[in-house]
Amino acid sequence: MAKEETNFLDPWKASEVKNYEKLMRDLGVESTKTLLKKIPKNYYFTRNIAFGHKSFETVLQAIDGKKPFAMLTGLMPSGKFHFGHKAITDLMIYFQKLGADCHICVADIESYLTRNIPLAQAREVALNEYLLNYIALGLQPKKTKFYFQSEGSKEYMNLSKIIANKVTFNELQGIYGELTPGKIISAFTQVADILYPQLSENGGPKPVIVPVGADQVPHINLSRDIAQRMKDYKFIPPSATFIKFMPGLKGIHTKMSSSQPDTAIFLTDTPEDVAKKIKKYAFSGGKDTLEEHRKHGGNPDIDISYQWLTFLEEDDKKLENTYHDYKSGKLLSGELKQLLIDKINTFLQEHQKRRKKAEQQLHKFIYSP
Ligand code: TRP
Repeated sequence: MAKEETNFLDPWKASEVKNYEKLMRDLGVESTKTLLKKIPKNYYFTRNIAFGHKSFETVLQAIDGKKPFAMLTGLMPSGKFHFGHKAITDLMIYFQKLGADCHICVADIESYLTRNIPLAQAREVALNEYLLNYIALGLQPKKTKFYFQSEGSKEYMNLSKIIANKVTFNELQGIYGELTPGKIISAFTQVADILYPQLSENGGPKPVIVPVGADQVPHINLSRDIAQRMKDYKFIPPSATFIKFMPGLKGIHTKMSSSQPDTAIFLTDTPEDVAKKIKKYAFSGGKDTLEEHRKHGGNPDIDISYQWLTFLEEDDKKLENTYHDYKSGKLLSGELKQLLIDKINTFLQEHQKRRKKAEQQLHKFIYSP
């Protein structure tokens, strides 16, 4: 049977998911829809972009009861920071504002083992692409540890190895499908990352939220299983929220990729780059002629400019109006593209100033044991 037809979700390959319902059924992910009343307001949840979770209730209870909790996530330092990375970052900052102790892990060991990226290059990308943008987007240094997998504490380093005693090879194959030594070490390192906020050096067991993309579900499942088997540590099984992928410019089922500049917009792009890429590449759900468009309207569900606005436009009312105006034919494709261009360029103008200022702040975030 072809790999695509099995239930495996390969976290080292996937960067799009065709069917989120199937993913939820196959991998036991709960819908966030039933929790909306309890989730502190955030449009990624109300718009079902943050569509799924594992035991999010545990963290919501901690937030509600003003009890300690932590947030941990990781970044793959493989290239330029684009708008697809912004959604997770916004959620990290959201959890920080809700009181989380924040841990952000640079997956430099993983990027070396699975993509052959030299550690020095990973470091450079992590600081200049990721951390600078995180700070510019609003990440605060207080209660935040930004660490590298290659430079963790002794207890963390040992944890990634001790984990090997808690899982069988068959079980790993059942979760990941085809394995390599590099993938196994990467998976164990990531489990150690996810359990790290609960080590004694970080104050011991507590609820932990891991905001990640939908491709990371297998790692979360493994971490939760292992957490329960490490009885001495008294870990609380880590919670997670999963977000949908922001599609690439060329269509709803295409990928945004750092290595293909015509699929993505980077947070360092100039206003001219932005306008050019959107005009030239953003897939349109509009009709072929003006007359037909006025008569039948466009299709926002496959229109990339509209889909991107669901990630970027904070104002629900504005977004709703755009949806209806486009669907009714009142708003033309070119006009919709212009709305997106203006939205992005207004944002980037401020963001790029903040990013420049953030250079002086980098040192406040970097943790070394
Ligand atoms: N595997 C993640 C990615 O590909 C990066 C990562 C490493 C991570 N450790 C983590 C994500 C811990 C979440 C939690 O992007």
